[in-house]
Amino acid sequence: MNKKTIKDVDVSGKRVLVRVDFNVPQDETGAITDDRRIEAALPTIQYLLERNAAVILMSHLGRPKGKIAPKYSLAPAAQRLGEKIGREVALASATEDDPLGTSEAANAAAPGQVVMLENTRFIDGEETNDADLSARLAALADVYVNDAFGAAHRAHASTEGVAVVMRNMQKSAVAGFLLQKEIDFLGRALTSPERPFVAILGGAKVKDKIPVIDNLLPQVDKLLIGGGMAYTFYKANGLEIGQSLLDEGSMEFCRAALTQGHGKIELPNDCVVADDFNNDAPRQTVKVAEIPADYQGMDIGPETVQRFSDVIVGAKTVIWNGPMGVFEMSNFAAGTRAIAEALARATENGATTIVGGGDSAAAVEQLGFADRMSHISTGGGASLEFLEGKELPGVVALDDK
Ligand code: 3PG
Repeated sequence: MNKKTIKDVDVSGKRVLVRVDFNVPQDETGAITDDRRIEAALPTIQYLLERNAAVILMSHLGRPKGKIAPKYSLAPAAQRLGEKIGREVALASATEDDPLGTSEAANAAAPGQVVMLENTRFIDGEETNDADLSARLAALADVYVNDAFGAAHRAHASTEGVAVVMRNMQKSAVAGFLLQKEIDFLGRALTSPERPFVAILGGAKVKDKIPVIDNLLPQVDKLLIGGGMAYTFYKANGLEIGQSLLDEGSMEFCRAALTQGHGKIELPNDCVVADDFNNDAPRQTVKVAEIPADYQGMDIGPETVQRFSDVIVGAKTVIWNGPMGVFEMSNFAAGTRAIAEALARATENGATTIVGGGDSAAAVEQLGFADRMSHISTGGGASLEFLEGKELPGVVALDDK
């Protein structure tokens, strides 16, 4: 990475403002159901504490749209972090005058301790990248560390604005260990992949993946396409797809991609279809040219699993973004599970395997393959934008090496 990291600056005893992405899923009682993003931020936080820095954390959670909303408080995240690091994490209180609790945090910050601001989206200026808010945040610290890869595609006050102000004040704005790791893994895959280089794309809509396909197609040796988006490709090829997902506006793109990516793009040749979108609906496995008119595609079929797995196991670099089917329903999870298994085998064969954030990361975690991948990104939208070849504003704003 061509940006300075936390190792390039002296943080000992300093006040360090760290942007993390603790936007973690919670159940209806507010209990955190997946704390991988908190876990992933620990190396940076521990590193700073070992150097007796005063650590001031900030994150967004959900989309409270500039209003203080108890439902979106960072209290559960502060508590979970405290349990993990074995010390108290003091959460600043949100007040109408000071929605993030910056004054309280400024007073409480002390060497070797961790304080956390309230949800950065409790104030309008966050998403509008307001200069005053950025300056107020920058005033909190000597060093700014961005470790929020998941939010690095947002040009917000806590991700981009604050870094610019820090630099203007001749203070440091650097990457944390998580941000560095994400950029290193994803960046290496895009710029100097060991070949064969295989990308697997799934998920519902072609439209969401068009920029990624455009960017990856010239670079990969194979592009495997599964999930709901595959059906629009069939339709574009003149096949009938029954009640399966169709993204009509993307059919022209699919036709062009199939021509341009001739020999590189592989589509499923069989699929599991159901006569309703629920786990217990009657289902059958059919060739893609034989989808019954009243059925819809829910998963890739066993022949496709075999073909795709052979390609994946023979690869040296694999990037996966988007499930192969409706993996949340147990009867339609087999394809996604088999692809995760193939990636795990590729990792064991020495390949670099990278799973994009969001749904694919959740699938790999839920199906029990998480520790058999080289890297699982903590960023959903951010990893997608990176794979699209876009620059991430939260990264661009940091100090150059
Ligand atoms: C994510 O979960 O992808 C990030 O935390 C960004 O959240 P956002 O899409 O609400 O900006």
